[in-house]
Amino acid sequence: DWSMESFIATEVERIRSVVGDRKVLCGLSGGVDSSVAAVLIHKAIGDQLVCVFVNNGMLRKNEAQNVVDLFGKHFNMRLEYVDAETAFLDALKGIAEPEAKRKIIGKMFVDVFYDAARSLGDISFLAQGTLYPDVIESRSPSGGPSATIKSHHNVGGLPDDLKWELLEPLKELFKDEVRQLGMELGLAEELVNRHPFPGPGLGVRCIGEVTKERLDTLREVDAIFVEEIRRAGLYGDIWQALACLLPVKSVGVQGDERTYREVCSLRAVTSQDAMTADWYRFPPEVLQTTASRICNEVAGVNRVLYDITSKPPGTIEWE
Ligand code: XMP
Repeated sequence: DWSMESFIATEVERIRSVVGDRKVLCGLSGGVDSSVAAVLIHKAIGDQLVCVFVNNGMLRKNEAQNVVDLFGKHFNMRLEYVDAETAFLDALKGIAEPEAKRKIIGKMFVDVFYDAARSLGDISFLAQGTLYPDVIESRSPSGGPSATIKSHHNVGGLPDDLKWELLEPLKELFKDEVRQLGMELGLAEELVNRHPFPGPGLGVRCIGEVTKERLDTLREVDAIFVEEIRRAGLYGDIWQALACLLPVKSVGVQGDERTYREVCSLRAVTSQDAMTADWYRFPPEVLQTTASRICNEVAGVNRVLYDITSKPPGTIEWE
């Protein structure tokens, strides 16, 4: 007689007895899995849970503030907010090659996260939002493609001086059960049904070199795109929607003025598991509204493209 309520009650008891009076660290990303894991553990042990949220400078518009408001204020969790924007941007200066960017972002994240953890002292457990499919995947001999994809997003092998045990309260659940659990624990529908978002964030959507200015531009483009998708009631039909800023300028005309500005691309796909994906057929008026808002509202962008490449041959992300 499995129900979400009895799962929560059992799991809360289990977490309490495993943890005792010790402390648990959780890296919050703002994504579904770490959010649900954090709220569940917090329900069990309150202030014995410390969450760390790293702002890598590559987050979506208002993301950092939203996380601080939701987990720090609304749920009243102990939340360590680490603003590492400048450090990440400095490390990425002059780097345009996708794998090089990913490696730098991944390594920076690990460094920043462990530094924050060391400063907290006496932590015994590391909480992770590992799901059942992740467990299966990491057991398979090849690991599978998304095991590699996720390698620098999820905290990898622990350094020797940090001897934490893992706490993985979601590891018997599938994604839809995690979403249901999240709702049961008081997380908003909008949060638990969020599209996937890569660890390196907008860093791999600023095609070419990543700068603060380009990221700010992309944040605006992305926010308009998602807003229009939600307004049209299509968010739930789409696996993932993303905008990229291309390293290209094009000529346009706005008012009586000739402009020479940046180009962005929009992409939305349907998928079951991200291994294959089909491009999403928007009603044309949604693309129309989105494109005209972007050109009118985002300084520096005068052209919008829609990506109709499926996976394969294209990956979902551009980098
Ligand atoms: P691709 O672009 O390979 O992406 O078709 C497949 C799915 O994985 C996501 N993705 C990532 N997720 N860390 C993550 O946690 C990453 O570094 C990463 N790179 C890609 C991508 O957004 C898509 O959902």
